[in-house]
Amino acid sequence: MRLPLSTVFVAFLLQQSVVAVAPSRRNYDTHDYYVIEHDPRSVSGASLDDVARSLGVEVVERAGELQDHWVVRAPKPRHLAARGEATDRVLATFEALKARAESRHDLQLARRSESVEARNVVSTVKFLERQQLRQRVKRAPPPIRPPSTTSASAKAAEHYGIKDPLFTKQWHLVNDEEPVHTMNVTGVWDMGITGKGVISALVDDGLDYRNRDLTDNFDAIDSYDFNDHTDLPTPKLFDDHHGTRCAGQIAAVKNDACGIGIAYESKVAGLRILSGPISDVDEAAALNYGFQNTSIYSCSWGPPDNGRSMEGPGYLIDKAVVNGINNGRGGKGSIFVFASGNGAAHGDQCNFDGYTNSIYSVTVSAVDYKGLHPYYSEPCAANMIVAYSSGSGKHIVTTDMGENSCSSSHGGTSAAAPNAVGVFALALEARPDLTWRDVQHLCVQTARMINPDDPDWDKTASGRLYSYKYGFGALDAYRYVTAAKDWKLVKPQVWYSTDTIQLNNGTMDEKNTMHGGEPIGPAGVKSKITITRDMMDQHNFEKLEHINVKVWIQHTKRGDVEVEIISPKGIHSVLAGTRFGDSANTGFPGWTFMSIKHWGEDPVGDWTIRVADQKNPREKGAFLGWNMIFWGEAIDASKASKFDLKKTTNVLPPVVDLNAPSTTSPSVATKTHAKPTALLPTDHATVEGEKTKPAFPVATSAGAVSPSSTPTPDEGWFSDMSNLVSNQKWLFGAIGVVAVFGIGSLLFFWRRRVARQRRANYASLPAGDDLPMSSIRDGGSAGGVRTKELYDAFGEVSDDEDVDEETHLQGRRPGERSGAGLGFHSGFLDDDEHPSTAGVSPGYRDEPDDQPPREAEPQDHEHVPPSPSGSGSGDGSWEHASQTR
Ligand SMILES: *[C@@H]1O[C@H](CO)[C@@H](O)[C@H](O)[C@H]1NC(C)=O
Ligand SMILES: *[C@@H]1O[C@H](CO)[C@@H](O)[C@H](O)[C@H]1NC(C)=O
Ligand SMILES: *[C@@H]1O[C@H](CO)[C@@H](O)[C@H](O)[C@H]1NC(C)=O
Repeated sequence: MRLPLSTVFVAFLLQQSVVAVAPSRRNYDTHDYYVIEHDPRSVSGASLDDVARSLGVEVVERAGELQDHWVVRAPKPRHLAARGEATDRVLATFEALKARAESRHDLQLARRSESVEARNVVSTVKFLERQQLRQRVKRAPPPIRPPSTTSASAKAAEHYGIKDPLFTKQWHLVNDEEPVHTMNVTGVWDMGITGKGVISALVDDGLDYRNRDLTDNFDAIDSYDFNDHTDLPTPKLFDDHHGTRCAGQIAAVKNDACGIGIAYESKVAGLRILSGPISDVDEAAALNYGFQNTSIYSCSWGPPDNGRSMEGPGYLIDKAVVNGINNGRGGKGSIFVFASGNGAAHGDQCNFDGYTNSIYSVTVSAVDYKGLHPYYSEPCAANMIVAYSSGSGKHIVTTDMGENSCSSSHGGTSAAAPNAVGVFALALEARPDLTWRDVQHLCVQTARMINPDDPDWDKTASGRLYSYKYGFGALDAYRYVTAAKDWKLVKPQVWYSTDTIQLNNGTMDEKNTMHGGEPIGPAGVKSKITITRDMMDQHNFEKLEHINVKVWIQHTKRGDVEVEIISPKGIHSVLAGTRFGDSANTGFPGWTFMSIKHWGEDPVGDWTIRVADQKNPREKGAFLGWNMIFWGEAIDASKASKFDLKKTTNVLPPVVDLNAPSTTSPSVATKTHAKPTALLPTDHATVEGEKTKPAFPVATSAGAVSPSSTPTPDEGWFSDMSNLVSNQKWLFGAIGVVAVFGIGSLLFFWRRRVARQRRANYASLPAGDDLPMSSIRDGGSAGGVRTKELYDAFGEVSDDEDVDEETHLQGRRPGERSGAGLGFHSGFLDDDEHPSTAGVSPGYRDEPDDQPPREAEPQDHEHVPPSPSGSGSGDGSWEHASQTR
């Protein structure tokens, strides 16, 4: 052996983690892709090659930066799966192997050795999942022109020798009209801190490194295009401008182009994932890409912000995030910054998004140049801070796609997140040793109070104020970096998971079928978990940071459910407020909420959860079970270890240690989604913000809640009837019903009284003569055609995008109810998709006007949701993604 051992070791390391492995190009048309977690340490276990052979797959490469995870593929079967119904051959093979592995008592020798072989394979495979293409949604703003500025900014330009022509319009740096409302960076520049040596990656739709304002600060080595599998994140689609705009906010060069970035001497890399469908494994690889060099991952995207979806990252993505936290940046942890979401006008909340409510994300929502809450910015107990963005008439001014292009129409929470990233880049120049948790602690410590009279502020046990809209307040670069300079690093993280409480024998199996549970009565359901000092001490637990609350709740209308946790000190965290557009009947099948409102609080005592709904006699549910995880700082640093994420299922009661490998098999059809834009309305910057409304108005009483701080047209009209007229669709629907009913009645009486006369303008109701009232009411079971006409007419009346979305819902899977119970359309759907239920349609007519017809009312507390895996509305929301314009 000529090579010294250390060289071999270094070579091994290089191969393992230092060299960024560019993922090879995938071809989802010809192959199905899977990820296997293979345990090489198992003694009698099969090698990866043996496993591959047994499953009939080919090993492609390692899955991004995930140790022991491998991308494998199998040729697509030609005839099968064309309609997406056929079984998956690889997953079926694995199931068969599992079955064979268990047949220990087989007498035949040949079979016995087969079963040994199968066991060897099965014992090494910890995880097997087919990869599906998904489309993430940009939290992007459509454009309008901003007004101009004047003097303090001009002075600053002179002082700092800034020649960038748009600098004076970058009010988020120097605000002439509202001087307090800026990211407050100039004081940091004065210290000579400009982000040198720090790399931020824009996980987005591309990054136009050819723009003169970015070229010099672009980091090609740590960039990659995961959509087209090429090295550079070049924007290619006409609307691939989002990542470039966000990059400009962070690192636009101090030159004579556009404006300037907050950390204008830092570097930006581009990881292109939003310009087309992406599989979990590629998304996972993106979130770890170059993670020794890249410090911050800027993520202004997520599941659709439509107020209906409830969705989080898949296992591989979670795993990548934990990998980044444990191993990124030399073990100090990657900084993941997520935009809270633009769906507040749709009733959306960031606790329904598993990316923004992750303890590993710094979740950033928006305030505008007046410091007001823009109506799009999503509230929730996972919001950490706010940063400046569009609203009350102004946008964010930054770089744009194209060599010489600038944008003066950027905004949304999309633009708030990169402003925070810029500040963190400054802080990491000053203190590269900050861990991911120090970055969060500094947010909590240094956030600046805004709008002190806003009723959304609530005093926490630690004496700080917290708001679902603003988190702990506005991120202020000067305060942040000055505090960072003298910051004493926190001790390592520890956690304590409570036992799971089952209420009234509530259970949920692997198919998400729920049984039992405490019915949610008019007073709601309460349950308690007691934490003792001993528990904390035994777990080396000193100071509380995040809490997770995992719940199993069955309900016929998820949007009616409110969940709140009350700490021993009486601090309330609203985890789920009502969502008027969310009529999913899938409940909360082991959904995990997060709150940072209890940061610094003593966790010892009784934690009470309260689950309530809107007391609507037609919507019911049950609370089946819950548990909590407390995350915080260690007492004794030497005894702390890093958190290791294990694959678990969401069954209730939870299985503590899964010996059996788990497989998940998402629906077989590979989906390709059209590129959507976010739900941020075009007036996102023109509408005046507010500082007078609590995010969750009457959440602490179990009464009806009017849609939160959002100027929806129906608010005020029907605010006390919100169950009934819960959104625009309903409003139009109700008007439609009344109108058609009215016309029908009129026609009826008219005909009786003036038998011979008929006015021409009623001819538009062809079946008018003998039209039964009931068929008018429910949209006409007189025939599908009429139903459709009625629906179309209704569609034309309204420009509302949601209405358009509904027209696509025919493609939904049975049982995947969505939308806000569009009475007409649901009826139509039923006829169309469930011939078996068409016959019972008269039953629907018996329901009063205020109630959308339901398909398959769940039996008491038994509930069979459509989607077998994942939390929440999984596939459904991706369908929404494709339909959003
Ligand atoms: C902004 O930074 C300056 C120093 O440049 C500091 O004096 C001031 O307090 C900060 N502004 C706010 C509102 O905290
Ligand atoms: C990190 O940066 C170094 C030097 O620029 C480069 O050689 C290396 O490939 C980078 N590593 C990764 C993982 O991108
Ligand atoms: C729960 O189940 C157990 C055993 O199956 C039974 O003895 C008990 O009475 C049940 N409890 C309730 C509240 O239904």
